[in-house]
Amino acid sequence: MDHFNYQGGILHAEDVPLTRIAEAVGTPVYVYAAATLRRHFGLFQEALAWAPGHLIAFAVKANSNLAVLKLLADMGAGMDVVSGGEYARAKAAGVPGERIVFSGVGKTREEMAAALRGGIRQFNVESEPELAALSEVAVSLGVTAPVAMRVNPDVDARTHAKISTGKAENKFGIPLARAVEVYAEAARLPGIEVVGVDMHIGSQLTDLDPYRQAYARMARLTRELRAEGHDIRRLDMGGGLGIPYRRDNNAPPLPIEWGQVIREAVADLGCEIEVEPGRNIAGNAGVLLSRVIWVKRGEGRDFLILDAAMNDLIRPAMYDAHHDIVPVREPEVVAPLAPFDVVGPVCETGDTFARGAPLPEMDEGDLVAFRSAGAYGAVMASEYNSRPLVPEVLVDGDHFAVIRARPSVDEMLARDSIPEWL
Ligand code: LLP
Repeated sequence: MDHFNYQGGILHAEDVPLTRIAEAVGTPVYVYAAATLRRHFGLFQEALAWAPGHLIAFAVKANSNLAVLKLLADMGAGMDVVSGGEYARAKAAGVPGERIVFSGVGKTREEMAAALRGGIRQFNVESEPELAALSEVAVSLGVTAPVAMRVNPDVDARTHAKISTGKAENKFGIPLARAVEVYAEAARLPGIEVVGVDMHIGSQLTDLDPYRQAYARMARLTRELRAEGHDIRRLDMGGGLGIPYRRDNNAPPLPIEWGQVIREAVADLGCEIEVEPGRNIAGNAGVLLSRVIWVKRGEGRDFLILDAAMNDLIRPAMYDAHHDIVPVREPEVVAPLAPFDVVGPVCETGDTFARGAPLPEMDEGDLVAFRSAGAYGAVMASEYNSRPLVPEVLVDGDHFAVIRARPSVDEMLARDSIPEWL
């Protein structure tokens, strides 16, 4: 469920007409609904209500705007970060270190040190070299690093190959077969305190079975590790629960159902449960609002050329992802729909958002919204083709604020410099 609905013939974000935002801020622009963010975070709280002391660590990579992070942090969210930059964002949004989990396969020593100095709940460690480096960094700072090893359960998440992470052939985690050995090494290393086990098998999962398989393996491993004398007290179950990108197909499982799968698999172990959802909280809380530049009648195809492009929303070009594209002015119920190829102005054919999208008759200057763009939208945007970075707006009830301004062309140019010897 989201809060983008037609009222009086105009698509609104909560109680704000998107036309108003387009006039005030210009297009393209990402628009988020605070109510949806709150609602979705609340669904995870309900889903884990059975697990005392749980942590819902929002995957910052999905949407790292400080205002979004602050809104979630105020509800008690923790943060799952994968870089020094994301760690700094979480701190800047007011998240205490004890609610920040540091994930990622390639943490640098500098990033480890910054997190150890600023406070961290745990590092999800993905390899033996990383473990050794973390030990060194912690010892040099005279502190202890809390660690969960990310274990690769070798299950097929049955999602897009580019976002599947739990197969043995993927770069993530340590193989299950080596886990006992690596934990023994962790226990021997100075500056390391083993606190838990971590898994994350992929993103946009639409089926709970891969989770069931992975969590069963996690439970077995936890028992084994405890028998070896490790104090496993936290289980990080990862993120990855999918969202409905199309209104017309079977919806993926709900957080409450995922929570039950977790409960059935590991509740009896009595661990603190951590989860790292990103897309499920932010995805349907955002739209990308864009204006039609031209309607171009082609040979047997009509093109809707928008002012948004692949640099603003790369998911269709990168993952063949589908985003529903809807007109901001509500079409008449009887309005005939015609197929449009919806494209951006960037000079490559990959800059195509949809082929044959059914839309009512559209004109220059009309507004459209890409649904389900609140996760992995703005964060993956670039300035390709020297298009200034797309801005972001947060709506709450009947008011809105720009939460990231569009840089001017001058600001964009000012970041380059021409050496004096040129
Ligand atoms: N935890 C870890 C360690 C992750 O790598 C990820 C996502 C998450 C949590 C959050 O997963 P989520 O709940 O959002 O599915 N750019 C791609 C998605 C990449 C996901 C990478 N890892 C896309 O646009 O589909």
